[in-house]
Amino acid sequence: MKTAVIAGIGSALPSKILTNEDLEKIVDTSDEWIRTRTGIRERRIDGDGLPLSHYAVEASRRALESASIDPAELDMIVCATVTPDRLIPATGCIIQRKLGAPKSAAFDVAAGCSGFIYALQIAKMAVLSGEYRNVLIIGAELLSKYMDWTDRTTCVIFADGAGAVIVTAGESPRGILATALHSDGEMADFITIPAGGTERPTTIETVSGRENLIKMKGNETFKIAIRSIEDVSREVLARERLTPADVDLFVPHQANLRIIDAVGQRLGIGAERTFVNIERVGNTSAASIPIALDEALREGRMKKGDTVLLAAFGAGLTWAASLVRW
Ligand SMILES: CC(C)(COP(=O)(O)OP(=O)(O)OC[C@H]1O[C@@H](n2cnc3c(N)ncnc32)[C@H](O)[C@@H]1OP(=O)(O)O)[C@@H](O)C(=O)NCCC(=O)NCCS
Repeated sequence: MKTAVIAGIGSALPSKILTNEDLEKIVDTSDEWIRTRTGIRERRIDGDGLPLSHYAVEASRRALESASIDPAELDMIVCATVTPDRLIPATGCIIQRKLGAPKSAAFDVAAGCSGFIYALQIAKMAVLSGEYRNVLIIGAELLSKYMDWTDRTTCVIFADGAGAVIVTAGESPRGILATALHSDGEMADFITIPAGGTERPTTIETVSGRENLIKMKGNETFKIAIRSIEDVSREVLARERLTPADVDLFVPHQANLRIIDAVGQRLGIGAERTFVNIERVGNTSAASIPIALDEALREGRMKKGDTVLLAAFGAGLTWAASLVRW
């Protein structure tokens, strides 16, 4: 049976490391609080004034190389992000120009931290339609550029980075299996940048009121995240008539180590089958799953034929999961 497979993968992180000790000098926090409440010790942030597309292109080039595909062969580029280079045009188009992929369609997807799985589903549908052969999807964020460095509830969590995969046609049993996408706009205000859009255009007042920066109701979001990630993971497993025991590797969105541990406990998937890099990488929103997948592959945690469960939760609110037979 014809399937859509992940044929290549790559990631890119900024070189600048921001440690918890560095944050202690910026806001009223401590290394101990951040480690025990989030699992993060350090994160990467752009220190060179570079745009999102710089890191997205670096990750994309690595993914293209590992799939042995030339940029000119790309039919579609989907960039999952909430921190684009500019509001207009889509960062996907800027990536297209930098890569040199003239025949590709290019656009962005904004689904918060679930964005990569949303893009993966678009890529799968595009490839299975038979109309697109090689699809590049990127999850990339420079959250540091929208960070309120006086808000200790957000600036200790979020970070920068990019990951990319190439989706092409393949044959079962390999492929992207069941994928489920969910949203609940009733909770749109839980994670938001209130100003800078048409609802509240940028003014001197919105900027001085820090309304152009990320706000998050962390505690309220925390509980919903655990339940939603568990539910959507069970949903995709059930669709393939599998159980958590069949999962070889769980690659969750790296939002908070306590969320990852709680979901793992509920699903009965232990640390030995869960990939975690939040300690070094922080929460990179839509970039988190492709960065984790790339690292898991390079560390030998995934091999051909493995059943890999991806699950995420984020602004929207959105939540999503996908099962991949690697
Ligand atoms: C943001 C988050 C780390 C906060 O952790 P928490 O345990 O929920 O913390 P709370 O917000 O309940 O705050 C507890 C206390 O710690 C304090 N606190 C918050 N951030 C702090 C920090 N960086 N350093 C020290 N103290 C901090 C609070 O002020 C509060 O103090 P109080 O009890 O005196 O009022 C956590 O809620 C979280 O990860 N939420 C989910 C985020 C998520 O999944 N988002 C979607 C995907 S990105």
